[in-house]
Amino acid sequence: MSSNESTFQKAAEIIAAADALVIAAGAGLGVDSGLPDFRGNEGFWKAYPALARANLNFMEVADPRTFERDPALAWGFYGHRLDLYRRTAPHAGLGILCGWSQRMALGTRVFTSNVDGHFQKAGFAPEQMHECHGSIHHLQCMEPCKSSVWRADDFVPELDDENCRLLNAPPTCPVCGGLARPNILMFGDWNWLAGRREAQRHREENWLATLAVGQANVVVVEIGAGTAIPSVRHFSQWICREYGARIVRINPRESQVPSSMDVGIATGSLQALLGIDAALHRLTTVRPAQDPTLTNQSTHPAMGKLVAFDEHAPSKTSQQIPTENPQFAGAGVEVLTREEEKPEVVLTLGTTPDQLSPGSSTSACMPKRPSEKAIEIAAKMLAGRAMREGERR
Ligand SMILES: NC(=O)c1ccc[n+]([C@@H]2O[C@H](COP(=O)([O-])OP(=O)(O)OC[C@H]3O[C@@H](n4cnc5c(N)ncnc54)[C@H](O)[C@@H]3O)[C@@H](O)[C@H]2O)c1
Ligand SMILES: [Zn+2]
Repeated sequence: MSSNESTFQKAAEIIAAADALVIAAGAGLGVDSGLPDFRGNEGFWKAYPALARANLNFMEVADPRTFERDPALAWGFYGHRLDLYRRTAPHAGLGILCGWSQRMALGTRVFTSNVDGHFQKAGFAPEQMHECHGSIHHLQCMEPCKSSVWRADDFVPELDDENCRLLNAPPTCPVCGGLARPNILMFGDWNWLAGRREAQRHREENWLATLAVGQANVVVVEIGAGTAIPSVRHFSQWICREYGARIVRINPRESQVPSSMDVGIATGSLQALLGIDAALHRLTTVRPAQDPTLTNQSTHPAMGKLVAFDEHAPSKTSQQIPTENPQFAGAGVEVLTREEEKPEVVLTLGTTPDQLSPGSSTSACMPKRPSEKAIEIAAKMLAGRAMREGERR
């Protein structure tokens, strides 16, 4: 196994064992989609040569005073980014993250300093997001004369990229008619309207409160977060401290991790996410039965078997799935469908139905009716639980 493959494997084991996922992402996540990061003046000026000629660095351009002094220049920069983020498709790694997020028994949240909206483009729900520096797809009044923000969809920038200047009229505030700016936190920015971010933060806090400390098995997958503006790193480190989470840090240049329990992967995000996902698939030890005919619960097999019950069936029925994995000995999996739209997977430890105590179950919302896939996911969750039980002993 190459060293990359063994780190992918270790990361996959941590993710398979987790029941809550925190994705923490910085600008490096977008690099494989073709979006520039802003690493140092050199990286920034490579992406914006006109700003190099004007000897303006990121901190100087990303400053509300630049909007006051020279709106066409400030909007030349932000208009270029708005246009670029709109027309770029997120790379396959974001879809992979979205897939993992749906398997987490206790859910997934995203914390990102990226303003590009690419997580939502890749399928993440707005409720899962905390965009700590705001979003380029939202505008606010420069003044500001009102506290609400609005979507930037109606504004289509026309640009002179060569000179980093906006050619058409900049967007204006619908209330006072003054200049509008992106609802992004800039440097020395006292007028940033943080209400949208605060609402996201509040939702995130409520979710975190549901993760009982010491009970939930939380994993942080941190991707492309730099050290110069450390908001994302601080957040992932805080989650690790507060929730005893393990971290999988993906960064080609800065992948050091705090302990040997964690995993640092020194590759680009796409390569790492594809590698971990492949390793996750290999971890699946459960094969559906040759004959998928549902059998009655009374034939519940106990030791070494995984069992899926389907409440939609006329009587409580079960599907037996043989597994050779000794970790499953004495364990059962129920896949229960509660409603057509929102089925639930319930994992239960025990050998026979009467041994299945309510306290030993974990539930997760699944996107579809229990299928082979749902059962496979349930099995993975159970594998993770068995692994943790083993560690505790
Ligand atoms: N897409 C965006 O929204 C975007 C883009 C650039 C900058 N920004 C903003 O600029 C600020 C810069 O902070 P930052 O720390 O996120 O970015 P940064 O530019 O300072 O650092 C980027 C990090 O990503 C790593 N990286 C480079 N290529 C990578 C790849 N292929 N895969 C994974 N990682 C890779 C780098 O080693 C570095 O550590 C933030 O406030 C952010 O909001 C946003
Ligand atoms: Zn206004």
